[in-house]
Amino acid sequence: MKYRCVRCGRSVYALNGFTCGCGGTLEVVHTFPEISLEVFEHRLSHMDGPFSSGVWRYKELIHPRIGTDSIVTRPEGNTNLYRRGGVSRYTGVERLQLKHEGENPTGSFKDRGMTVAVSEAVRSGASVVACASTGNTSASMAAYAAQAGLKAVVFIPEGEIAYGKLAQALAYGAQVIQVRGSFDDAMRIVKESSSELGFYVLNSLNPWRIEGQKSIVFEMLQQRSWEPPDWILVPAGNLGNTAAFGKALRELKQLGLIEKAPRIASIQAEGASPFYRLWRGKLNHLETVKPETVASAIKIGNPVSWVKALDAIRETDGVVERVSDTEIMNAKAIVDASGVGCEPASAASVAGAKKLREAGVIGLDEEVVCILTGNLLKDPENTVKYHLGEMASIDALYANRPVKVEPDVDSIERLLRQPNGQPVEAVVAGS
Ligand code: F0G
Repeated sequence: MKYRCVRCGRSVYALNGFTCGCGGTLEVVHTFPEISLEVFEHRLSHMDGPFSSGVWRYKELIHPRIGTDSIVTRPEGNTNLYRRGGVSRYTGVERLQLKHEGENPTGSFKDRGMTVAVSEAVRSGASVVACASTGNTSASMAAYAAQAGLKAVVFIPEGEIAYGKLAQALAYGAQVIQVRGSFDDAMRIVKESSSELGFYVLNSLNPWRIEGQKSIVFEMLQQRSWEPPDWILVPAGNLGNTAAFGKALRELKQLGLIEKAPRIASIQAEGASPFYRLWRGKLNHLETVKPETVASAIKIGNPVSWVKALDAIRETDGVVERVSDTEIMNAKAIVDASGVGCEPASAASVAGAKKLREAGVIGLDEEVVCILTGNLLKDPENTVKYHLGEMASIDALYANRPVKVEPDVDSIERLLRQPNGQPVEAVVAGS
C-alpha cells in the first residue's frame, strides 16, 4: 500500500502512527484499474453484497485491492437527493438539492469512511480501534467495531456531545472516555497515545476514512447522471469531507470520468472557523482557535485535514464561508419544516447557500448541492430548545412553540381556530 505525505511529499508504505515523520497527514496513492461508468450503473441492481453499498459500488475508485471477504459493510450510502421548494425559496437558490447523509445506517456520513477504514483495520490485523469525536465518528466507529468484533475506545469532550450520539456509542458497546477538555484535546491524546497503546486510529487522520467519504461525491454525481452541479456546499469541522471531495473530483478528472469539477464551498460555524480565517487571510498556516458554537459536531478549533482541504478549495476554485449560530439554527428550522430534517451542523451548508447567494458568489442560475451531514434525531436537545425559545443567543425566527391545553374538545377547537395555530411549515417553508 502506498501513501503520500501531503506536507513534504514523501512516499510512506505503512500507517504506523498515521502521520508522516514530518507530522504531515497522509493520503492514499492509487493505481487505478481500467474502469468505466457502466460498471457503476450495472451495480445499482445489486440487492445485497458489498456492491449494494453506496460506498463499495465504487470499489475501484476507493480500495481497488481489498478482497471482498474483508469488507465490513452495513451497507451504507444510497442516500437521497432532495429538492424542496421551501429550502430553495429560503436560500434564494432555485436549483438546489439536498444530499442527506443523515440517512446512513448510524445517521451520519461517517459510515462511508468507517466501512472502508474498519475493513482496512481488519485486513491489517488490528484488534483495538480508537477515535476522538464530537459524537458522530464515535457512534459510527462503535457500530462497525461491534460488527467486526473489534474493541472500540472513544475519546469525547465531556458534556459536549449530543445525546443521540452518546447513546449510540454506549449502546454499541464502545469504551467511552470523557476527556475534561475540548475535541482538540481529545484528538491530541489519540494522536499521542496510538503507537504506545496499539490503537488503530479511525479519525479522518486515517487516509482510508477519506477514501470512503469520496463516495458522497461519486454517488451524488451518479444520481445526477454524471452531470456535475456548479457548487457543492459542505459543513466543515475537522475538514475530512472537504479534503475527500477535493480528492474525489481530482481523481475523476484524471480518469476522464468528468470534464469539469464543481466548486467546493466549505462552510464553518462562526465561532469555530480557523479554516475560514486561513483562507480569507491568505495565511500559510492554520491558527487554532478556542471553538464555540451550538453546532457541537463542528466545534473544532484545530482541524487535522486543513492542508488537504486547502488543496481542495484551491483546485476547484472554491470558497470558504462562515455562518452564525442563529443562521445555522434558522436554516435548520427550514430544512426540518420541509420534512427532510437534519442536525444543527448539517444546516451550515444551507445557511451558507443563503449567504453566498445573497453575496452574489453563487449566481442566480447556478446549481447547488448542499450536503446534510447528520440526522435530525442526533441532537434532540437543541431542536427542542430552539422551538421552546430557550436558546439565549439565538434569534429563533421559525420557532414552532408547543401549546398547553385542557383535555377537552372545546379547548382544542378554540385553539385550532386561532390564526397562529398554523403549522410552521405552512408559514415559512410552503413546501
Ligand atoms: N457535520 C457533522 C454532523 C459532523 O459530525 C461532522 C464531524 C462534520 C459535519 C464536519 O465534518 O470533520 O469532515 O469537516 N464530526 C466529527 C466527529 C468531527 O467526531 O463526529 P468534517
